[in-house]
Amino acid sequence: MTAAFPTRRLRRLRATPALRRLAAEHALVPAQLVLPVFVKEGITAAQPIASMPGVSQHPLEALAGVVDEAVAAGIGGIMLFGVPATRDAVGSGAVDPDGILNRAITLARDAAAGRLTVQADLCLDEFTDHGHCGVLAGDGSVDNDATVDVYAQMGVAQARAGAHILGLSGMMDGQVAAVRAALDAAGFAHVVILAYSAKYASAFYGPFRDAVESTLQGDRRTYQMSPANAREGIEEALSDIDEGADVVMVKPAGPYLDILARVADVSSVPVWAYQVSGEYALIETAAAAGLIDRERAIGESLLGIRRAGADAILTYWALEAAGWLQDGKDLA
Ligand code: PBG
Repeated sequence: MTAAFPTRRLRRLRATPALRRLAAEHALVPAQLVLPVFVKEGITAAQPIASMPGVSQHPLEALAGVVDEAVAAGIGGIMLFGVPATRDAVGSGAVDPDGILNRAITLARDAAAGRLTVQADLCLDEFTDHGHCGVLAGDGSVDNDATVDVYAQMGVAQARAGAHILGLSGMMDGQVAAVRAALDAAGFAHVVILAYSAKYASAFYGPFRDAVESTLQGDRRTYQMSPANAREGIEEALSDIDEGADVVMVKPAGPYLDILARVADVSSVPVWAYQVSGEYALIETAAAAGLIDRERAIGESLLGIRRAGADAILTYWALEAAGWLQDGKDLA
């Protein structure tokens, strides 16, 4: 006699690897991954970043090699960050066509030759001596509108250098509209704006400060969002779309999957996520201590971000994960 219970056997589709693969609701392809790349002025060999095991700062001369690796891995792009030799109060190196980031953009663009997208961080924190994402007013606060003016100049400099996509990560009000207008006026109507829309004031950026050698005076809570807020993240994304953002982003990714899912539900443009330096360091250090299975944890973290609604992911594991995908390995 056959038991009438259970009538619903959800385990059926989990029985073999082939069934599980066929029944998978979400997957990633290499083209949906973007690698952040740090380019440092004045070095001649790659310098490992202590807080991000496996990640290095690269000399300008090595950038073409990094681009070739990224192309071979089939990833969708690289996101460039500049580490300048000198900084000042207003971040002059950001708008200088000879600044390290602008030079890196041109070099990467030439090396890429259309094979992947070259993206650039549009923010002042790597270029200011106080480490804030903008210029300061007399009282020491970050001056929104004065900063947005510099972002507009920086955006045009990056477009002129050859960036395909500008990553506006400064969280100033009105930055998307101002950079869009400046780009259009300067003949760069085709340059894409990726707005870091819901960007939270996060401890998970800690290792990144090492990577760009930025020492911050104070914190970023007057412009980056409070981790307590969700509705506000949706509003940030919607207003960036209104201002002309081509892509919106949620950052960090892992601790903000709820925000990612909600933004993905209402966005009329692609939604990307940034798996940040601290998310990277957590998994790397736990794996190095033998506490978790490194590859499975990486794969699961990426799949989780995808499942929550990211169309593409910025991740320091982009090359490695793309390699697994090319080999036909499952992420989780
Ligand atoms: C701003 C910027 C930051 C990151 C990306 N763009 C730092 C910050 O806002 O404090 C962090 C990325 C990471 O932690 O991996 N230039």
